[in-house]
Amino acid sequence: MAALSEPLRFLLFFFLLCDSPVYAGKCHKGDKKVLLSIKNSIGDYIFTGWTSDFACCDWSGVGCDEVSNRVTSLDVGQTNTTFSLPAAVSDLPFLTSLSFHKNPGLVGPIPARHRPPHLPPSRLEQPLWPRPRLPRRAPTLPLDFLAIDRNRLTGPIPDSLGRSSLIYLYLSHNNLTGQVPASFAGNTVAEVVDLSRNQLSGDASALFGKGKPLWRLDLSRNHEIEFDLGKVEIPEKIVALDLNHNKVFGRLPPEMGKIQWQLLNVSYNRLCGRIPSGERIESMDQYSFLHNDCLCGPPLPPCK
Ligand SMILES: *[C@@H]1O[C@H](CO)[C@@H](O)[C@H](O)[C@H]1NC(C)=O
Ligand SMILES: *[C@@H]1O[C@H](CO)[C@@H](O)[C@H](O)[C@H]1NC(C)=O
Ligand SMILES: *[C@@H]1O[C@H](CO)[C@@H](O)[C@H](O)[C@H]1NC(C)=O
Repeated sequence: MAALSEPLRFLLFFFLLCDSPVYAGKCHKGDKKVLLSIKNSIGDYIFTGWTSDFACCDWSGVGCDEVSNRVTSLDVGQTNTTFSLPAAVSDLPFLTSLSFHKNPGLVGPIPARHRPPHLPPSRLEQPLWPRPRLPRRAPTLPLDFLAIDRNRLTGPIPDSLGRSSLIYLYLSHNNLTGQVPASFAGNTVAEVVDLSRNQLSGDASALFGKGKPLWRLDLSRNHEIEFDLGKVEIPEKIVALDLNHNKVFGRLPPEMGKIQWQLLNVSYNRLCGRIPSGERIESMDQYSFLHNDCLCGPPLPPCK
């Protein structure tokens, strides 16, 4: 060291810092370990770039917080292997966005323990820079984006998803079965929910309710979803509702006439009665309402 000039000594000190046990360049060592276990559990060629030649924040599909370098998003592209959702994703404590999209090889159930259920704490309470000596499973930023659509997932939607902090939930185009969990009745944070094209059945009314921030709901083509639409409260902010190809019955609630719909499709259900009056709803395409038990009134033919 004595032979080194002052600037060089500073540089060396800097590199030693970067190689400290916790933060190695743009990569948190604990997060890197978790990512490598995900890579190993899936074992697909798309992870060939996930090597120590690059900092894990630069690996494809991995996004990190710019200040803390903690992994905040994971977006796994199309794979060519058969695997199930790696439970290890719940060991990434700062993950807010998780996406496994269009993987025909992604089979099996949604792990119930994908995150300890908790409502989102105020983000202002969260330190931007992680506390020193983080506990392994610190409840930190909540997962707010989950897109595991277009895979071959089976089994029920876990109860915990209804109590989670998810704002965007995409589960469409899988083979999920069972009922929409009643836990969604208390959920006040989900804004976009797409459960279309699964094999869900029974009551889905828990998703509805006044005061919910939901603005887009797609339950289409589950074929067996069955509840009385006339008995639910329509969320005030909803502008897109697709229920086509189910067994939804009852009447369209009058408040549906006042909504500035961007998309409404209740076709191929068992609805009945007069379509509520309203400028927007009456000017919609009749195909949004066809193939029900006895819906009538504009845009369908007049009621008898
Ligand atoms: C994907 O799998 C198929 C059949 O299993 C194989 O023929 C193909 O080469 C694989 N593609 C890649 C990029 O590994
Ligand atoms: C769902 O399961 C059926 C058979 O039960 C199968 O034919 C279909 O391809 C599956 N769909 C998906 C998206 O996995
Ligand atoms: C509503 O859904 C049905 C069935 O999928 C479809 O045929 C129709 O075009 C849709 N209507 C509109 C307006 O999107």
